[in-house]
Amino acid sequence: MSSSVITWTAYVDLHFPDKCLDLYYTFAMNCIQLYELCANQNMWFLALDFAACPTWQVEDKIDANNVAYTSGKLSFHTDYPVLYHPPGIQFLHCIKQAATGGESEVVDGFHVSNKLKEQNPQAFQILSSTLVDFTDVGVDYCDFTMQSKQRIINVDYRGQVVRINYNNATRDTVFDIPAEKVQPFYAALKEFVDLLNSPEHKFTYKMKPGDIVTFDNWRLLHGRRSYQSGAEISRHLEGAYADWDVVMSRLRLLRKIIQNSN
Ligand SMILES: [Fe+2]
Repeated sequence: MSSSVITWTAYVDLHFPDKCLDLYYTFAMNCIQLYELCANQNMWFLALDFAACPTWQVEDKIDANNVAYTSGKLSFHTDYPVLYHPPGIQFLHCIKQAATGGESEVVDGFHVSNKLKEQNPQAFQILSSTLVDFTDVGVDYCDFTMQSKQRIINVDYRGQVVRINYNNATRDTVFDIPAEKVQPFYAALKEFVDLLNSPEHKFTYKMKPGDIVTFDNWRLLHGRRSYQSGAEISRHLEGAYADWDVVMSRLRLLRKIIQNSN
């Protein structure tokens, strides 16, 4: 219970910087009650569910609630821009591969963003400043109703690209920007997507059973070509996420161990 409360109090810090102590306390108590309610009904927060169920299966399913769970083409995307803190690192393990189609595609979002900045600074400025609504509602390993507002290109205080947040499948039908900004936004997005898909930027490969790939979900966009599905499951990848903060902590510890052993 304590780790959940710590997470929520961190959320209060982030989103209610002018909080008074009473609000903070009430919110924390509500979180404890909410946590207990969820635990009693086996209804977990998504992040906790990831922790409880550390891998997920990508295969075509009846009643698919996500285009990943069909045999159709998956356009370039990062996973979970609908979360304010999307998974940092992704692992994909190929268990079964389709005989026809199913090739994987990746593209370096940082490189393409910098290309966009070179060729059309205004388009870059629009994508790195406009807040875009994302939504995802349904049932997978648990019930969820997720919403976020994200810039497609995140830059840091120096103007350097630090994260891509883009999945057109979960971009909301709501787009909360002034009407006169809509067309320039779509023109900028089209230019970005065209660059992602240009043959000079993308890399295509086909995984074989036993292969595992790992990549930076904040930097790399990934996709998949359509494949032919049969009566049985014809393609099966098992996926997992890791958090950059956790991985970096582990790397620092390992570095210290190596330095101390020399
Ligand atoms: Fe994905």
